[in-house]
Amino acid sequence: MNRDLHAIRRDYQFEDLLEDTVGDNPTAFFDQWLAFAIDEGVDDPTAMLISTVDAQGQPHARVVLLKEHNESGFTFFTNYESDKGQQLAHNNKACLTFFWPTLSRQIRIEGTVEKVLREVSEDYFSSRPRGSQLAARTSKQSAIIKDRSVLQAAFKAEEKAFTDQKVACPENWGGYTLNPTSIEFWQGRPSRLHDRLCFSKINEQWTLRRKAP
Ligand SMILES: Cc1cc2nc3c(=O)[nH]c(=O)nc-3n(C[C@H](O)[C@H](O)[C@H](O)COP(=O)(O)O)c2cc1C
Repeated sequence: MNRDLHAIRRDYQFEDLLEDTVGDNPTAFFDQWLAFAIDEGVDDPTAMLISTVDAQGQPHARVVLLKEHNESGFTFFTNYESDKGQQLAHNNKACLTFFWPTLSRQIRIEGTVEKVLREVSEDYFSSRPRGSQLAARTSKQSAIIKDRSVLQAAFKAEEKAFTDQKVACPENWGGYTLNPTSIEFWQGRPSRLHDRLCFSKINEQWTLRRKAP
């Protein structure tokens, strides 16, 4: 590919993001930005990168979907034995990143992760489409497999095992909640004079500071 990546740039033309606008509760402000992203028709508005670090100090990032959020944290669901699950078992510090290109907005959330209660995972699992439930049972997420037929055969076996029955939530599948210690709201602005408003939890209180872009 011979495209000149240096020439790919755009000026961000959105309104400024001021301290008075964000207020003093970052999770309430997150809710406002997420609602706006949904209303504006952003693709996959709940998609977020979760970054984890393995035992060798190597960071890893991948996309998951936000399924719940409230004052105590941001919840997603996955396989506890996946690579990310093993990394979180070793080091429960993690970072979430949302990027909504059409709004020129990024949100970075850092904190520690813990598993949700089993009944929360079971409740959410039971609300998922049957195909997704069977797939969660089928896929040994992050394991090396020979080819696609391995997945298809395992899916068929699960389908058969649960014929005319509710699909059981596997023990190794469930939610994690990231409890935030910092949340940064980034708004792209003209001439690269972007706004970065950063909340840090200090002595259980949110403190707001502005960072240079
Ligand atoms: C848009 C999108 C949404 C995804 N949502 C999830 C999710 O909610 N949970 C999940 O385990 N994987 C999800 N994935 C797959 C992950 O990115 C990743 O491939 C998988 O979790 C295995 O990661 P790991 O091997 O690092 O543990 C999603 C991928 C994309 C592109």
